[in-house]
Amino acid sequence: VDVRLIRNFSIVAHVDHGKSTLADRLLEITGVIKPGAERAQVLDQLQVERERGITVKAVTASLNYVYNNEKYLLNLIDTPGHVDFSNEVVRSVSACQGVILLVDANEGVQAQTVAVHSLAKRNNLVIIPVLNKVDLPRANPENCKGQMKSLFNIDPETVLSISAKKGWGVKELLEAVITRIPAPTVDLKSPFMAHIIDTWHDRYRGVLCLAYIHSGRVEVGSAVRWSGESKQHVVKHLALLRPSEEPVDSAVAGQVVMVGCGPKGGGAVGSQLVSSDHPAATAGAGAPAVKHMVYAGVFPADQSQHPMLSDAIKKLGLNDSAVSIHPDSSPALGQGWRVGFLGLLHLDVFSQRLFQEYKAEAILTAPSVPYKIRVKGAKIIKQYKGEEVIITNPLQLPHPHHIEEYYEPFVIGTIITPVEYLGSVNTLCIDRRGAPLPSSAVDDRTTLLQYILPLSEVLVDFHDTLKSITSGFASFDYQDYGFHPSPLVRMDILLNGVLVEELTSIVHASRAEPTARRLTDKLKEMIPRQMVQVAIQAMVGGKVLSRETLKAYRKDVTAKLYGGDVTRRKKLLKQQSEGKKKMRSVANIKIPRNTFIDVLKR
Ligand code: GTP
Repeated sequence: VDVRLIRNFSIVAHVDHGKSTLADRLLEITGVIKPGAERAQVLDQLQVERERGITVKAVTASLNYVYNNEKYLLNLIDTPGHVDFSNEVVRSVSACQGVILLVDANEGVQAQTVAVHSLAKRNNLVIIPVLNKVDLPRANPENCKGQMKSLFNIDPETVLSISAKKGWGVKELLEAVITRIPAPTVDLKSPFMAHIIDTWHDRYRGVLCLAYIHSGRVEVGSAVRWSGESKQHVVKHLALLRPSEEPVDSAVAGQVVMVGCGPKGGGAVGSQLVSSDHPAATAGAGAPAVKHMVYAGVFPADQSQHPMLSDAIKKLGLNDSAVSIHPDSSPALGQGWRVGFLGLLHLDVFSQRLFQEYKAEAILTAPSVPYKIRVKGAKIIKQYKGEEVIITNPLQLPHPHHIEEYYEPFVIGTIITPVEYLGSVNTLCIDRRGAPLPSSAVDDRTTLLQYILPLSEVLVDFHDTLKSITSGFASFDYQDYGFHPSPLVRMDILLNGVLVEELTSIVHASRAEPTARRLTDKLKEMIPRQMVQVAIQAMVGGKVLSRETLKAYRKDVTAKLYGGDVTRRKKLLKQQSEGKKKMRSVANIKIPRNTFIDVLKR
């Protein structure tokens, strides 16, 4: 392989601006798939991706393309679009020298375009600005070029126009990738060192990694080790992904390859694989930390399924390195895990993948953001070693006596909206306890707003609300702004006087009363009537803020079929008993499992 003929690039864009469609066209032009192939969007491999139409995991494809009589190796590294998965975007760009910044010419620059553009800038990547969907009658490329000029200072002359759907301009784009993006600068003489950008689990071959080779070369049979460890492994599998595997005997710096070191070979995203004689440290270095924005408890539906769920979580956790997994137990739900996610969509996708790929059914408790507290006289409370403690489970919150200061996580939210919705967008942000930052004009009809917002206020339904008050025209993205002091309280839910641990939450003091009312109302709605009367209470610091009573009721599903058909009657009884299996019982009160995840949603 001639390194001068390698191009490593990625497509970055706002959701739905056409990344997957463009990737399909690139695969067609380079002969990987036949035009009009049945399986559209080949890069979206996972079932959940196809169902939801979003790209969750970053995958890659090595493409061949002949230009000026030279055969180029183009490594397309697909990236997910959603904010929740931005760490996957970060990881993929670390292996690239350039990006295609794709913007829908109808919608123009959106909040996420701003985020991915700044990411590319920070990583000093060459940016190829591209307007997509120019086949649509409402496309306005000239206006979009103006937006790119005013927000990103991009020269309109350099912007390409394409239709990924029709294939217009895609060949020119591929040639721009070759001419504008530099070949990787690599060091072929130094010992082998590669950076892991993705991993997944193969039933027979163990952990397989997608690696970007920074220096040296590697062969099947090479002796390697993980940076920070001394144990040696042997490279067993080496392949290019096109995107199906094409085994190779060796690979050199600048290439993106799949590497496997056998069932015990290990490997984690963000870590480095080096040749066994590489001078890299044998201790200390590890994968960089990921910031978790949402935590939830994950429990087996039934304790007998614990080993199976444990296995599934382990495998999924390996593939999805963005989750953090710690054993947890709840007297009510038994042994389980406290899992950290990047956002709610990430949580949803995780539980869906557990079910679809591993056939494991799990109970997920109400999600919460991490909080931080500063403990008074830290030494008095033994379990807290440091003065500042991150609380990932509201139940860990000590008595208010012991807390000197509460902190909650904030984000900087970026919103791009047509000017006519400015009023309602500002109202929404202020209602969500937001503090405005200076805004700027995108063009004469569009504004970019920025707000400092509490993460807890944007996690749940901010995006949906924003979409609905702006008829879908506003877009939103956020980035971490760290922990800041905030008056917080712990809210407990009691059913007939018994604490429902899964529903304990931490809320802002100003939100306590409305939240208490909302939770009790919602629980009254969601919990089916029982044989006994149920008192639903929301409490803060020993004080009942809201109370609802659910009247006793006996549900007789067959009553109206009295004297009716026996098989139908049996079927109804069976349905009812299956319904019961999906319940969990607190103080003899049967609660449908989804209550735990649905009740804290607004
Ligand atoms: P995520 O993976 O969710 O981020 O979406 P994406 O950016 O990969 O978008 P995708 O390729 O799935 O395209 C979104 C929608 O736009 C699909 O319905 C495509 O058919 C459509 N689309 C993509 N490119 C074009 C285009 O050039 N013209 C037209 N008319 N539609 C397009």
